[in-house]
Amino acid sequence: MIEVKDLYKDFEDNTVLQGVNLKIGKGHTTAIIGGSGSGKSVLLKHIMGLMKPDSGCVFLEGECVTDLSYHELSTIRKKMAMVFQGAALFDSMTIAQNVGIGLHRHTKMSKREIAERVTHCLSLVGLNNIEQLSPAELSGGMKKRVAIARAIALKPQILLYDEPTTGLDPIRANSINDLIVRLQNKLDVTSVVVTHDMNSVEKVADIVAFLYHGRIHFEGTVEELENSDDQIVRNFVEGIDEIDAVQHNPGAF
Ligand SMILES: Nc1ncnc2c1ncn2[C@@H]1O[C@H](COP(=O)(O)OP(=O)(O)OP(=O)(O)O)[C@@H](O)[C@H]1O
Ligand SMILES: [Mg+2]
Repeated sequence: MIEVKDLYKDFEDNTVLQGVNLKIGKGHTTAIIGGSGSGKSVLLKHIMGLMKPDSGCVFLEGECVTDLSYHELSTIRKKMAMVFQGAALFDSMTIAQNVGIGLHRHTKMSKREIAERVTHCLSLVGLNNIEQLSPAELSGGMKKRVAIARAIALKPQILLYDEPTTGLDPIRANSINDLIVRLQNKLDVTSVVVTHDMNSVEKVADIVAFLYHGRIHFEGTVEELENSDDQIVRNFVEGIDEIDAVQHNPGAF
């Protein structure tokens, strides 16, 4: 469904993506893992069409979206929705307005239809009777759920999650993982979950791609990841600090 081909992106002298190649299958959940600052959010923004690469392409159902004009891109974007890192709710709006914003902008639905869809999407993420609250009145976990409700409001075929569990305690993180799996089954979407939370990977992912030094260093199932004998993969999975690992195993680097 999505193919990332030879993607390169620099920010001045900071080389972030150095030839990323990745295929994301329809109807599956792919986790993109990698250390902080490895370029996971940058990669997701390229998939979403929010950033242009220096070279390379993101193909969506065979069409290179990175070449498209702003107008052409807007139709593609309706197929995809992103749950941003840190929820990114508008503080001055109510929860209902936050969740309904895309419906107001991109559909001809009436106010009443939008209100119904908003309530439905909130119930899908396990939230009820919070339409008139403001984001400041919600916990971190609830804000993430609202961000997910907003993402599913326009019935996207592809859901991109950027660090959906970061900043949550283990119980709330787990309930977000459960929610991702439940939505995946219920809505039959293609999901891409960016995370550095191995727990989350084990719970939600069919396929894992490990971004390391600007490239996909590993791609496979969760089981293959956990059984990999590649030292760089092992270090990440086991959460060993790289510097520590160099000291213990200098030959691997
Ligand atoms: N708009 C931008 N302008 C300049 N540099 C950027 C921009 N966006 C990202 N970067 C840089 O690109 C690199 C990768 O950033 P990115 O946000 O993709 O990391 P990440 O893997 O998502 O990290 P984290 O796990 O902390 O969210 C970082 O060095 C960051 O400073
Ligand atoms: Mg990020």
